[in-house]
Order: sequence, then structure tokens, then C-alpha cells
Amino acid sequence: MISVRALEKSYQDLKVLRGVDFEVARGSIFALLGSNGAGKTTVVRILSTLLTADAGSAGVNGFDVATQAARVRESISLTGQFAAVDEILTGRENLALVARLRHLKDPGKIADDLLERFSLTDAGGRRVATYSGGMRRRLDIAMSLIGDPPVIFLDEPTTGLDPEARIEVWQAVRELAARGTTVLLTTQYLDEAEQLADRIAILHEGRIIVNGTLTELKQLLPPAKVEYVEKQPTLEDVFLTLVGKDKR
Ligand SMILES: Nc1ncnc2c1ncn2[C@@H]1O[C@H](COP(=O)(O)OP(=O)(O)OP(=O)(O)O)[C@@H](O)[C@H]1O
Ligand SMILES: [Mg+2]
Repeated sequence: MISVRALEKSYQDLKVLRGVDFEVARGSIFALLGSNGAGKTTVVRILSTLLTADAGSAGVNGFDVATQAARVRESISLTGQFAAVDEILTGRENLALVARLRHLKDPGKIADDLLERFSLTDAGGRRVATYSGGMRRRLDIAMSLIGDPPVIFLDEPTTGLDPEARIEVWQAVRELAARGTTVLLTTQYLDEAEQLADRIAILHEGRIIVNGTLTELKQLLPPAKVEYVEKQPTLEDVFLTLVGKDKR
């Protein structure tokens, strides 16, 4: 569904992508992992036709991002690193607005269905300015699903969210993939990739240095030495137990 070959991109003297290659299978969740400044957003911007590459090629849904940009744009939606919701409108109005911009029939019903799917029905009539970070993120993802694009890009979907809100977003992403949507997400959280992704690629110094399933990545290191230790709960376990939500 997504295919990237020998992609290169520089900003002035800064070589950010130095030959990036990967493929994403239809209906799967692919995580692009990398530190701050690794070039994750740059890859996403090239794949979503917002930026042109200096060299190499990329295809989305069978269309070339450079020569068939309009067809690519019809196939995708992008949830950027920073939420793109309108603060002054209500959640329902934000959704209905996007549905109208996409020339869809019955924007009100589309909005109500998505509010329900993302557990925002009660908040739907309130201005987004009053939403928590997790609610904004969920609304942002809901907005990007309008029109049922086969491919969705999520650039750091859970950065800045608390553990509960992250789990809600993860659940929404899993449901998307279960419905057949192909998801490419970027993250700097290892546990997020571990929880969600069918395949994980690590972008480092301009190249993909590893790409595989979690099991494959774990096999890259020698088998763990058996040690007998008391298993201590992580702070996340404690937090989630106290606030009343288990990890899965
Ligand atoms: N328009 C631009 N002009 C100049 N440099 C840029 C531009 N956009 C990005 N860069 C630089 O390119 C590098 C990669 O940026 P990019 O945003 O792709 O990284 P990222 O992996 O998404 O990082 P983060 O995790 O912080 O979001 C960074 O060093 C950044 O400063
Ligand atoms: Mg980024």
C-alpha cells in the first residue's frame, strides 16, 4: 500500500533522508520510530505530497507521490503532529465541516457516528477549546477518517497525552486497522510501537537501520540471560491501576 525507495531529502546543507526504503502492507500498522529530528515528519510530508523529495520515489495506494499527487491525496488522510481542530467550533461542527468540505451527503449523521465511535458523544456539543488533550487528539483522528481513506498517516499521535488518553488513541488506531485501513504512524515511544505495530522501522541518521516485526527485532539481540528477580510494577502499572484502567 505504501512503497518507499531510496528517498533522499535535504534542507539546505542538512541531509535529513539519505536513502530511505520500506514497504507497508495493506491493512497493517507500520511504526516509524526515531529520535527528535530523525526525519519522521519529513517522510510523512513527502508521502502526503506536502513536500517533494530530492531523489528516490514513493508510492501510496499504487500512485506515485511526485507524478500523481492528486490521486495520492484522494487516497490518504494526515493527522499532523499538532492537532488541527478548530477551537471555536464544537466537536460536532468540526466533523460536519470536514464532511461538507469533502462533499459528502448528510454531514450531521457522519459527525454523530464518529462522535460515538470515539466516545465523544457527550462532548460533541461543546467548543473544542474546553476539550482535554486526549479528546482533541481523538477528534483530530476522527476528522481524518471522514471519507474513509484507505491510508492514514498519524504523526506522533500520542505525544503529550497521559497514559489513559494514549490507550484510548491506541484502541482507535487498532480499530482502524481492523477495518482494513493501512496506518503509518511515527512515534518516539518504544512502547507505542511495541503495542500497536505489525512492523517497526527505526529511522536513524537518514536511513532505516532495522525493519521487522517485534519478534524479529527482539531476535537481533542475544537471548536474555535468565536471572531471578522480583518483578516490580512499573510506574505506568501503578498509575493505571490507581486511576482504574488496565493496560489492554
Ligand atoms: N523546513 C525546514 N527547513 C529546515 N530544516 C528543517 C525543515 N524541516 C525540518 N528540518 C530539520 O530536519 C530535521 C528532521 O526534521 P523532522 O521534522 O522530519 O524530524 P522528526 O523526526 O519528525 O522530529 P520530531 O520527533 O522532533 O518531530 C530536523 O533537524 C529539522 O530541524
Ligand atoms: Mg516530527
